Amino acid sequence: MAQGEKLFKGNCASCHKVDAKLTGPALKGVKAKWEGKGDIYAWVKNSQAYLKTGNPMATAIWEEYKPTIMTPVALSNEEIDAVFHYVDNWAPPVAKVVDNGPAAPTDEGSNNWLWLLVLALLFLVVGLSLSGVKRSLANAVNEAEGHGPLPETTRMQTVRAWMWEHKVFTSFLGLFLVVWVILQLWDAAWVIGVYGGDEVPHYKPEQPILFNHTLHAGKADKGNLASNGQYCHSSAEKSKHAGIPSTNVCRNGHKAVNAGRSEAGTKEIQKIYAHAGWDPDKGAYTGKEEPVRWVKVHNLPDHAYFNHAQHVAVGKIECQTCHGPIDEKMDVAEQWAPLTMGWCIDCHNKTEVKMAGNGYYDEVMARLKGDEKLGHHELKQYLEDGKITVKELGGWECAKCHY
Ligand code: HEC
Ligand code: HEC
Ligand code: HEC
Ligand code: HEC
Repeated sequence: MAQGEKLFKGNCASCHKVDAKLTGPALKGVKAKWEGKGDIYAWVKNSQAYLKTGNPMATAIWEEYKPTIMTPVALSNEEIDAVFHYVDNWAPPVAKVVDNGPAAPTDEGSNNWLWLLVLALLFLVVGLSLSGVKRSLANAVNEAEGHGPLPETTRMQTVRAWMWEHKVFTSFLGLFLVVWVILQLWDAAWVIGVYGGDEVPHYKPEQPILFNHTLHAGKADKGNLASNGQYCHSSAEKSKHAGIPSTNVCRNGHKAVNAGRSEAGTKEIQKIYAHAGWDPDKGAYTGKEEPVRWVKVHNLPDHAYFNHAQHVAVGKIECQTCHGPIDEKMDVAEQWAPLTMGWCIDCHNKTEVKMAGNGYYDEVMARLKGDEKLGHHELKQYLEDGKITVKELGGWECAKCHY
């Protein structure tokens, strides 16, 4: 099965889908169709040669698809069997549950708090009813002694009297409630305006074109994030901004790839042509361009300064460290990290600067060596033991990140 899948994906999937037409017909059930009517092995190995035998099965399928030729495939009979075994046993993928990172945390801690609260309320009710019983008993005693009942009191007065009687308990309960509410608000306040990280669902806006990062940066034949990422967001290496590629970058790649593996993919590629002003039929520009209005996913506030080149080129941090597994499981780009100040400084605190063999620092160090006045004492530390974190280098100074 695994072998069949590999062979199918490697040799046939560029033209065939299992259950739908692509360049060639759907392949599910085709082997059974050919049984006894033609030599499907000979066809797969070299369809044009097989056509010369005049087999009616082959001729019919050629009539339908010509002049598109099924190119010869160098597979053995066993391998072809494996392909059809895979194809015939293929089932459409079950709709996948979108995994937005860990689900909203079911906070054990705050649950315990809630239980304590319920318990406290229960005590209150029991306490109140007990005081009612006590009153009835007192009345009964009074009556027996001929004093008449205690003066009527309203419920509110009863409660107040009870609370006065149980000052310590009431104050603790009150304090407890106030602290609990503050803690809840505190927790909630931390994630106001935060759209990434472990605690909130990630921000994942809908885009005008369904661009699939995993397909392009991960699985696409030629690419991986290192090369394609730098190709598409080329300025990440050189400047503050990572930059979004112009429509022509998309169009260049899609001159050859003009159909997706699904109808939806093909439709999305047509949108690129429209935006770039490219007529795929004529193979020429129409002159009517319109930039794609991508939705910005990450938004640092204006008062914070973040520089991609500093992190990517100098710091040698991989895109995925901050943007998550965009090449593995992100069909639609999402904000993966929380982008809070805590997130920045936490990393600066624990990350060691990669100075060895780093051109940027070789120069800095050469300048500082032996210059007591110029040298940060932190850098002197580095000269001694070869270790320094971003924080020690000044990565916690407010002005480094704030205008
Ligand atoms: C370059 C594109 C291409 C590739 C690659 C390709 N095919 Fe095809 N295939 C076609 C086309 C187009 C047809 C329709 C007949 C024609 O036009 O030659 C077809 C027809 C067929 C048919 C006949 C379908 C029917 O309904 O009877 C079979 C079987 C088949 N292909 C199997 C395979 C297998 C198995 C592989 C991989 C090992 C493969 N093809 C790879 C393009 C391709
Ligand atoms: C140290 C963390 C970090 C690394 C490493 C990093 N980025 Fe970023 N990236 C950010 C932050 C923070 C923003 C938001 C910047 C802003 O709003 O000014 C961002 C924004 C972006 C954007 C803008 C997208 C949008 O619409 O929001 C792109 C594109 C991008 N990064 C691509 C890359 C690529 C490609 C790499 C690797 C070459 C990379 N980044 C490496 C932190 C990082
Ligand atoms: C994954 C770890 C990581 C994260 C997250 C990160 N940084 Fe950094 N940052 C680094 C490293 C490593 C360097 C040191 C690069 C170098 O060698 O200059 C650095 C350097 C810097 C510098 C230059 C400091 C200096 O002393 O010159 C600034 C400014 C900065 N980061 C801002 C930010 C901001 C703003 C954020 C959050 C939006 C952020 N960084 C998030 C790892 C990180
Ligand atoms: C490594 C980078 C970095 C350093 C160093 C840094 N900040 Fe920030 N700071 C940020 C980022 C990024 C934000 C935006 C966070 C957000 O939008 O959630 C921020 C937000 C803030 C805010 C606004 C609060 C908010 O939630 O928007 C204040 C105030 C602030 N910083 C003060 C400081 C002070 C004071 C220092 C020095 C002690 C400092 N920062 C050092 C990166 C940094």
